[in-house]
Amino acid sequence: MLSEADRRYLVCPDCRAPLSSSARELRCTSCRARWSDVDWPRLYREERVVGNDRLLRYFYDGLPRLHDPAVRFALPVLQTEWVTERILRERFLRHLALDELRRRVSSSRAPVRILEVSIGTGANLPFVTRALPRLGDGDDVEIWGVDLSAGMLAQCTRRLRRNPDPRVRLLMADAHALPFADAFFDRVFHIGAIGNFRDPARALREMARVAKPGTPIVVADEELDRAREHNLFHRAMFRLVTFYDPKPHAPREHVPDGAIDVVTEPLSRFFYCLRFTMPAVRA
Ligand SMILES: C[S@@+](CC[C@H](N)C(=O)[O-])C[C@H]1O[C@@H](n2cnc3c(N)ncnc32)[C@H](O)[C@@H]1O
Repeated sequence: MLSEADRRYLVCPDCRAPLSSSARELRCTSCRARWSDVDWPRLYREERVVGNDRLLRYFYDGLPRLHDPAVRFALPVLQTEWVTERILRERFLRHLALDELRRRVSSSRAPVRILEVSIGTGANLPFVTRALPRLGDGDDVEIWGVDLSAGMLAQCTRRLRRNPDPRVRLLMADAHALPFADAFFDRVFHIGAIGNFRDPARALREMARVAKPGTPIVVADEELDRAREHNLFHRAMFRLVTFYDPKPHAPREHVPDGAIDVVTEPLSRFFYCLRFTMPAVRA
């Protein structure tokens, strides 16, 4: 799913130098770090996956087939409101302003690149592809997905076998050290794990780094909607789904310095959406 040409765009997650590719291995051309390339490039350090990242990976690796039914069927019940998965994802994607990509593309022949950090089983893919505007002849789109769970990526691969999409590129990487050059992506988004990340500030800085200046970076995860009343059932169910996080909330305090247009909005009773943009650096 990743061609040799795609591999040339990857950088070392340790020092960000280019990588050279040989059979089943990528090697950093600067610090000489070696990275496995079996099934997918595995551009992360196992020993740095600690705390909740490691704990939750047991679930994701062990039960990837349960993820999508749980989101689809359990969430509306737990939230006791008819905000289905579809509504939730469509509300989220509006913040990503994919329709505005048309304008950007017309002035450049480079492919439009979208990154989902923590792509999981790829449940957002049909929503993203539906929301993409027609970009015109010869304009390519690349949808890159990174995740830390081989089980979830394998599930995503099964989805892509059923519904092939040559635009999608998958690899294993840690949200805390993304293996991409600065300003590589036209859109960057993340749903559903930043509340368990060991260092959410660092992950947000990484998303901001790989996004082109001026493009929205959009993140969603759990927070009890601050503007609403919640009964005991809501609070108990919310605690259940966020058992690993003592204070699930939108990480407004961790948005990188200098970010502009910072907006936080509820998507549903249990979910927030946080959007921000990094300004273009003045010469
Ligand atoms: C709740 S799932 C959400 C999947 C997908 N974004 C969605 O909307 O359906 C969370 C995903 O985050 C991934 N994840 C957790 N910690 C991560 C990390 N440090 N770096 C990258 N992905 C991570 C998990 O492996 C899992 O696939």
